[in-house]
Amino acid sequence: MIQIISDVLSPDEVKRFRELLGQAQWQDGRATAGHVAIRAKANEQLSQDDPLAQQLSEFLLDRLGQISHFVAAALPLKVLPPRFNRYTGGGNYGDHIDNAIFTVPASGTRIRGDLSSTLFLSDPDDYEGGELIVQGEIERHHFKLPAGQMILYPSGSFHQVTPVTRGTRLGAFFWTQSLVREHSRRALLFELDNTIQGLAQNDPGQPAVGRLTGLYHNLLREWCDT
Ligand code: NI
Repeated sequence: MIQIISDVLSPDEVKRFRELLGQAQWQDGRATAGHVAIRAKANEQLSQDDPLAQQLSEFLLDRLGQISHFVAAALPLKVLPPRFNRYTGGGNYGDHIDNAIFTVPASGTRIRGDLSSTLFLSDPDDYEGGELIVQGEIERHHFKLPAGQMILYPSGSFHQVTPVTRGTRLGAFFWTQSLVREHSRRALLFELDNTIQGLAQNDPGQPAVGRLTGLYHNLLREWCDT
């Protein structure tokens, strides 16, 4: 299940992020690539020790917790603090699958990457190329989202960022360990959740709302790991 999460940041917030990131100390992204990915990766990142990166990362973490679409679709148990990257001058990231395990620098906590996210911070008109292509079960999906929107996709998918041939593509990216590891089960819970929300909006007093909500929690109890 691939989801587009809209309105993660408002236009004013995106503008502020871009101003701050414009003054940041960018480093060669290959410093943090695994031994396979390093051959495919040509971008710049902010160090995780960078105070600006930490400040923006904390802001985003806090925001993600308030976005019901993200919470319902990802069922997050642990979220790796978002990092920031920049593609320019032909920068790209060839087809690859992300690592399975990540470590939170501050705490040493390990996170299994179930879901990958990219938050777009540049407007699509500001750069040429720079599409995120995610391999689905049958076809490839192409994403070049408006600034402030985010894509959420299974971390086991092959994906790439095509060369940025004009302008600059800024983004934030992070991984989530879900309470429900299996993508198919998480998708069923998300569908049930949406169905309950729809019913509750139309007819909040309907007994089925309470029964289905109970069913949702009982399925979550069966399937979740904490
Ligand atoms: Ni990746």
